[in-house]
Amino acid sequence: MVNPQEINADMEAFWDGQGGRTWVARQQHTDTTLASVTDALLTFAAPRAGERVLDVGCGCGAPTLEFARSVGPAGSVAALDISGPMLAEGEARASSAGLANIEWRKADPATAPLDQYDLLTSAFGTMFFGDPVGAFANMRHAARPNARMAIVCWRALAENPWVEVPMTAVARHLPPRAEPVPHAPGMFAFADPEHVAGVLTASGWAAPQFEKFDIDLDIAAGHGLEEAVVQSMQIGAVNSWLRNQPEMVVEGAIVSLREALTPYVKGNGVFLPGAMWLISSRPI
Ligand SMILES: C[S@@+](CC[C@H](N)C(=O)[O-])C[C@H]1O[C@@H](n2cnc3c(N)ncnc32)[C@H](O)[C@@H]1O
Repeated sequence: MVNPQEINADMEAFWDGQGGRTWVARQQHTDTTLASVTDALLTFAAPRAGERVLDVGCGCGAPTLEFARSVGPAGSVAALDISGPMLAEGEARASSAGLANIEWRKADPATAPLDQYDLLTSAFGTMFFGDPVGAFANMRHAARPNARMAIVCWRALAENPWVEVPMTAVARHLPPRAEPVPHAPGMFAFADPEHVAGVLTASGWAAPQFEKFDIDLDIAAGHGLEEAVVQSMQIGAVNSWLRNQPEMVVEGAIVSLREALTPYVKGNGVFLPGAMWLISSRPI
């Protein structure tokens, strides 16, 4: 049984290292693919002028910048992440956009002392916590009495063909893999509403509300099939699966990936269904 400290150390090694650098390199593409998710999160969270926002797992900060614009100069965003390269990218983007109301901070929100906030948000960041109850309890302590939470997470793999199709295509070139551990930290850790409700209610939050958000994601970001293949190879599980594999295996996997994505090509896009939860709660 791996303990939360080990999970957090592994996560930090990935996001603060090569994983984070790859995300920075692919960020423009990823932001385009996820632009409507950012819009949906903003509408769902409804940040108000003057509010203080805590954005955890902010990464390169596409949603962070929008929250900063929404709260305006009288408000502010504390943007926390464990990835130095991604934070540096976010900070550079904020600076070119002339946004001075974001504090970029390399810290783990599970354990770091936090300033008070009105709105806790995260776009695909909370699923990676090694100890989610500890993390949400720590964040709960800094919530103002009328604070609210609005986060977005992935639903199950089977509901997300944009991930499942590339994984299935590549898996046939590799030895069988162990079944994933339910709720283990990672992309789909918050897919099960019962598990999320358990985590939140155990850490001082009200029983959460779940809203489905479904959308066809253009994994090519408007740049055609080959870009979709590259993106699928670089971001997500397929990347770690193919690391250190012989060239012949990687070449075979690319051919299968291209074949599997071809039916989803529409113009310059490659559109596959994505399924998310928009989750809200408040401190109790
Ligand atoms: C999928 S990315 C999402 C980034 C960003 N929110 C976006 O929408 O572009 C997940 C982010 O969570 C961060 N992360 C992972 N574990 C974390 C932890 N324990 N504390 C804070 N951030 C974490 C990663 O470094 C990464 O930036």
